[in-house]
Amino acid sequence: MRNNIFTKVFTYCFVTAIIWFLYKLFIDLKYTNDIPRVEIVIENRENVEIVTESDTKLELKYILQWTSPTNVPFVYLGKGRQGFIDRNCSFTNCFVTDNESYLGDYTKFDVIAFAGPEVRFMTKQAFFDRLPKRRSPHQKYVFASIESAENYPVCSDSFDGFFNWTWTYRLDSDAQWGYIVIRDSTNKIVGPKKNMHWMKLEDMDPVSENLSIILRNKTKAAAWFISNCYSRSGREIFVQRLQKRLAKYDLGIDIYGECGSMKCPRDRNDECNKLIEKDYYFYLSFENSFAEDYVTEKLLHPLKNNAVPIVYGGANYTRFMPNGIYLNARELGPEKLALKMYELIKDPEMYAGFFKWKNHYSYYGRHESIETNDYCRFCSMLNEEDLVNRTSVYEKFRSWWDPPSRC
Ligand SMILES: *[C@@H]1O[C@H](CO)[C@@H](O)[C@H](O)[C@H]1NC(C)=O
Ligand SMILES: *[C@@H]1O[C@H](CO)[C@@H](O)[C@H](O)[C@H]1NC(C)=O
Ligand SMILES: *[C@@H]1O[C@H](CO)[C@@H](O)[C@H](O)[C@H]1NC(C)=O
Ligand SMILES: *[C@@H]1O[C@H](CO)[C@@H](O)[C@H](O)[C@H]1NC(C)=O
Ligand SMILES: *[C@@H]1O[C@H](CO)[C@@H](O)[C@H](O)[C@H]1NC(C)=O
Ligand SMILES: *[C@@H]1O[C@H](CO)[C@@H](O)[C@H](O)[C@H]1NC(C)=O
Ligand SMILES: *[C@@H]1O[C@H](CO)[C@@H](O)[C@H](O)[C@H]1NC(C)=O
Repeated sequence: MRNNIFTKVFTYCFVTAIIWFLYKLFIDLKYTNDIPRVEIVIENRENVEIVTESDTKLELKYILQWTSPTNVPFVYLGKGRQGFIDRNCSFTNCFVTDNESYLGDYTKFDVIAFAGPEVRFMTKQAFFDRLPKRRSPHQKYVFASIESAENYPVCSDSFDGFFNWTWTYRLDSDAQWGYIVIRDSTNKIVGPKKNMHWMKLEDMDPVSENLSIILRNKTKAAAWFISNCYSRSGREIFVQRLQKRLAKYDLGIDIYGECGSMKCPRDRNDECNKLIEKDYYFYLSFENSFAEDYVTEKLLHPLKNNAVPIVYGGANYTRFMPNGIYLNARELGPEKLALKMYELIKDPEMYAGFFKWKNHYSYYGRHESIETNDYCRFCSMLNEEDLVNRTSVYEKFRSWWDPPSRC
């Protein structure tokens, strides 16, 4: 009797296993047989529209959003030429659509753009159904992302040798889609970039008497504005530890937003900035994940509002700031960071020294001028013939984009 049950259970498991195995085999065969022969199409672009623009005749450059236009970063692009016109770009002859039959045939588009956060989820099987099957050699396939590679890695090997251009926050992208601009005292754009040549801190002019007085009026240690309470970088855990260490010195962190008890609504940005400027010695510029060059607008808030940034991220921050004007939380750890904050608050002169850079550099958002606007720049690029004519392929896309051992 018992034996009989065992035999039944065994047979049932065995048969299930066989069926599962055959099913997997079928799926594998189905998809390996399905490897798309990407057909190379010879470009045929009669009837392309011509725009008249201050006496020059400019052909429209067509950009197809292959992934959803409502997702980041495409949602910021706008429809048709409107995004470029509204931004007063010097070139406005670029045309954005998500309609792949807009020109009859998608091989006629100059650019086919893919949003990073969606590329991440194009794993093997879905990939074959969802990617273009034919491509013209003149088209640029563009990988676009303002989100970090740590949060959105690309793991499918199908994307090696797929993209021609990258449009991301990484400083070595073909086109930038970033957050920060650094200018020198003559207003020339100097960064961020991989090899920054900063003035030495000791060569910088001392802070003005006026600024010193304003800085002396600060009363609170640090502010953190935060809306996502859980992150891959574990910043929330770091902040808890830091708070414990700071308590020893009778200092604290005011946490604004969803994850804390303080409120300063986003629609009153100016007031929040004033608050930072008036009250706080430090501002936590903590990124949600660690990735190369991933430094967001969180760094601009302290730099523009007379607070010292405490950074926590995967970037090499020497590409973004001179040494000696910020504190690096990840390098120092909570214990040393708390001590450093305490020492600086106790020593107004040393603290003021963190603002000497203001005599020599200034920081802006990239969207603040047409010259640095990344949307405008992209349309300008499409008008640079030698750049567009140059063949370029990211053969090892994954090793360029993905952080080590993330896939
Ligand atoms: C574009 O220019 C118009 C007219 O000069 C101006 O009103 C508008 O604010 C500008 N837009 C941007 C985003 O700079
Ligand atoms: C896409 O473009 C084609 C050609 O201009 C047009 O016929 C079609 O209606 C468009 N589709 C959508 C959804 O707008
Ligand atoms: C310092 O502040 C005073 C009064 O607010 C102002 O008149 C003066 O121009 C300021 N000096 C500098 C160098 O900014
Ligand atoms: C410093 O704070 C005091 C008291 O709140 C205020 O009266 C004064 O104007 C402040 N000084 C500056 C330079 O902001
Ligand atoms: C950061 O970049 C600087 C300048 O290029 C370099 O000297 C330094 O070694 C880099 N630091 C790290 C941790 O990679
Ligand atoms: C780019 O390619 C086009 C079409 O092949 C050609 O007409 C044009 O002269 C080329 N421009 C440059 C700068 O190489
Ligand atoms: C774009 O990449 C494809 C695929 O690797 C390549 O065949 C094509 O020549 C490249 N085109 C340009 C314009 O760089």
